[in-house]
Amino acid sequence: MKNIREEIAKILAPAAGSLTAEQIGQMIEIPADASMGDYAFPCFKLAKELRKAPPLIAADIAEAVRGCGLFEKVENVNAYVNMFVDKQSFARIAIEGVLSAGADYGRSDIGGGRRVIVEYSSPNIAKPFHIGHIRSTVIGNSIYKIYDFLGYDTIRINHLGDYGTQFGKMIVAYRRWGCREDVEREPIKTLLGYYVKFHQEAEKDPSLEDEARATFTRLEHGEKEETELWKWFREESLREFSRVYAMLGIEFDSYNGESFYSDKMPAVLDALREKGLLKLSNGVQIVDLEEYGMAPALITKSDGSSLYITRDIAAAIYRKKTYDFYKNIYVVASQQNLHFQQWFKVLELMGFDWYKDCVHVPFGLVSMEEGTMSTRSGRVVFLEDVLNKSVEKTREIMAEKHADPATIEATAKDVGIGAVMFQELSNSRIKDYVFSWDKVLNFDGATGPYVQYTHARAASVLRNAQADEKYIKSALEGCADLGAVCGPSGYELVKLLYRFPDVVEEAGEKYEPCIVTRHIIEVAQAFNKFYHDEHIIVEDETEKNAKLLLTASAKQVIANGLGLLGIKAPEKM
Ligand code: ARG
Repeated sequence: MKNIREEIAKILAPAAGSLTAEQIGQMIEIPADASMGDYAFPCFKLAKELRKAPPLIAADIAEAVRGCGLFEKVENVNAYVNMFVDKQSFARIAIEGVLSAGADYGRSDIGGGRRVIVEYSSPNIAKPFHIGHIRSTVIGNSIYKIYDFLGYDTIRINHLGDYGTQFGKMIVAYRRWGCREDVEREPIKTLLGYYVKFHQEAEKDPSLEDEARATFTRLEHGEKEETELWKWFREESLREFSRVYAMLGIEFDSYNGESFYSDKMPAVLDALREKGLLKLSNGVQIVDLEEYGMAPALITKSDGSSLYITRDIAAAIYRKKTYDFYKNIYVVASQQNLHFQQWFKVLELMGFDWYKDCVHVPFGLVSMEEGTMSTRSGRVVFLEDVLNKSVEKTREIMAEKHADPATIEATAKDVGIGAVMFQELSNSRIKDYVFSWDKVLNFDGATGPYVQYTHARAASVLRNAQADEKYIKSALEGCADLGAVCGPSGYELVKLLYRFPDVVEEAGEKYEPCIVTRHIIEVAQAFNKFYHDEHIIVEDETEKNAKLLLTASAKQVIANGLGLLGIKAPEKM
């Protein structure tokens, strides 16, 4: 795609002394005040070389480039050359850029094939996959898609919480009160029930806690019976998680969770010992981090069993060896900030300079309007239930709006699930937020249904005009005049479409999918304004084709943006 900045730099270069087009490209500014032009070039740097005052240089450059077709108007104001881009030329660059790249519009190769690991979702086995998990799952999925689009070689890891003392509790509870058929029928709700019961009973009989600890130790030592039960719990839980992942359209390259690293722990302990980092404190092995203003990192318990931090250290070392990553990204709640700071520090102290390439991408809490959740008490909102409810509510709304009965089922799924995902990706990830049905499903607000509906509207305009892909392609080649999309609302949309690749890049740099979300909301709003302000399917062929080209471009950008969020773009709604 043609880059407008580069085009302008090429035009300015012959008049700008020894500056190269590349240097000029970097110096070009976008004035905050649109009356100062679309782009501006400051001339201070040239004063020395050209032995002239900057305002005089600006006047000379303005004079030299004034006649060029890319500009509607060029002014010199003090030391600046202010350039007003010819709207039609700009619209052509933008629309050709979108339509020639199609589904690849916004894709780039800045990643250069470098490897990036994105770890996300990572729920705890045998515990409910609740609404709290949606954040890591959906934000992580979008960050993976953005990095993939930016040309990185991505690996998706689900670091399952499939290890730890809770499995001791679960096994004890299952042995005492459990029933195989119940687990098979409804694994997580049943296992959760055991977990809740364990805590109730342990309050009356604290010896249960000791029994659970001993059981977990047997599991760590690979005792057959415990291992088989644990494996079975893990499989049954994964089966249930997979159902939710399928609904969300989310996949992973690896499900290596915490248990995968249990046999890699001794090597970590050896390395820590060798570096003189391990300290014994009340029977617990720690790495002292007081010097760095942090609580100590707990490495092993008094019975020698490993801890969460140790497994994270082992996992990072394994990932570096296995994948030789350029970046290793963890999409995990901000409640775990200290945990990540601690073990990144331990990696640094161990002498791994690649600790700098490990990135914790934190996010805030989600709560339900109905109140707080607690796994132990069993008061949880299952993500699967939320998704199903969203689909159901969407179906009702669509039926009220007299949607096509033939497609309502499939569309309600795309829209209902998309709505929940979109809401998740709408705010800066670090913000806490309250899940609200009114906000999620409002078809007129800045929501998923609104953006999807706009996409379907653009699709329907193109259908009504019988403007299929072939038609659009030849219209693009034959269209000599794009004046019809250079009115106020059309041109606003053109500018937004042109910016999309930069938006994707920025979202990747900041690990913020909401930058994409907000942009496609703006595109949808701008398209709807254009749609209301203008008649698209008009008599005049030239005018109609220009407007259809803009419609097809807006549809494409919305679809690409939704794709990066992991959300479907329906053709009909
Ligand atoms: N399983 C953990 C939890 O549910 C999240 C794991 C985050 N990832 C990590 N590498 N520590 O809280």
